Amino acid sequence: MPKQKKQKAKQALAQHSIYLVEVVEGLEAITRQEIKAKIPSAGVIRSEPGEIIIVYDGPETSLWKLQTALSVYHVLEFAIPRPKALLGHEHFTRLVTAVDRTIRQWDVPCQSWHLAAAGSHTRVMQRIIEAVCEHLRISHDANEGDLTIRLRPDPSTEASVWQALIRLSPRPLATRDWRVANMPGALNASVAAALPHLVKSTADDRFLNIACGSGTILIERLRASSAQVAIGVDIDRDALAVSAENISAAHAPVTGLIQANAIDLPFADASFTSAMADLPFGQLVGSHEENIWLYPAILTEAARITQLGSHFVIVTHEVKLMQECLAATAQWQLQQEIKINLTGLHPRIYVLQRI
Ligand SMILES: C[S@@+](CC[C@H](N)C(=O)[O-])C[C@H]1O[C@@H](n2cnc3c(N)ncnc32)[C@H](O)[C@@H]1O
Repeated sequence: MPKQKKQKAKQALAQHSIYLVEVVEGLEAITRQEIKAKIPSAGVIRSEPGEIIIVYDGPETSLWKLQTALSVYHVLEFAIPRPKALLGHEHFTRLVTAVDRTIRQWDVPCQSWHLAAAGSHTRVMQRIIEAVCEHLRISHDANEGDLTIRLRPDPSTEASVWQALIRLSPRPLATRDWRVANMPGALNASVAAALPHLVKSTADDRFLNIACGSGTILIERLRASSAQVAIGVDIDRDALAVSAENISAAHAPVTGLIQANAIDLPFADASFTSAMADLPFGQLVGSHEENIWLYPAILTEAARITQLGSHFVIVTHEVKLMQECLAATAQWQLQQEIKINLTGLHPRIYVLQRI
């Protein structure tokens, strides 16, 4: 866009509220779909890896409905060359007024706050921290806080603009209330929430979550839509106990939780219309040597218990092994493969169809 036009567009946007929807890298298209469906009055301005910038003037709490988002931030832009200028009366008042407005919408008190910024130890950042502490009368937490403010130069322009991003919710949106019990290797809930968007998820589904672990995929599938049948299986009794606690906290209408080996499932042929699995990556759970025979066996068994045309969505880090398994199977066709970035890990989501 020519410079002048860009400037005009920026001025027009300044009349509206801007928000940054933070997502797992790779899932931007799914979150954009969710924004369109749930917040139709929001307009997407820009989408970059890991974030979607929207303009939206409705109630902020509506943005909390975004299940596939990691967090949503209110974006304040300051035409300043350096963050030091934030300490000036006009800019600081604008910042803390927006912060006060965000906190007032919470149903829990704000007890701590966290500044996320490059160079947060520098003298200037320390002065900003002190000033915000004094205004809010709460202490700063170096690691995380109920309130999080991110400060950064506006990545979309070379002009001198700094952004203050104020997280709307006291915890990341991906931190679910239903997670009352945890297990190592549990899937990020915003990724689990994205999976039902990749296939046709309807109330007629007979759905199976293979290797369900703590129940993340099962719960998030049922939050997306009800299902005729929704069952979780796992080989590990302790994982199933964790699942049961989370399912109960989520009030999820799960029809069964069964201890079973994924390569020998206790179901009749063609019992299910949809399956999902976050398979052992061989890092926190399982080992690569085991996966070499486990993965093809799971694909064969999943093909037996699903109807023709069913989808099987798999999340795994075992990229090369999946390639080999998919080349060797005549029962599953790869429909979509999405690379995601989960805090440094790069698993993929495979959408397969039973043929
Ligand atoms: C990556 S974890 C799943 C995590 C789960 N998505 C969650 O969010 O908690 C993999 C799960 O596979 C299970 N598992 C490993 N081998 C299995 C097998 N042969 N049959 C069934 N489950 C298996 C493990 O017990 C573990 O719970």
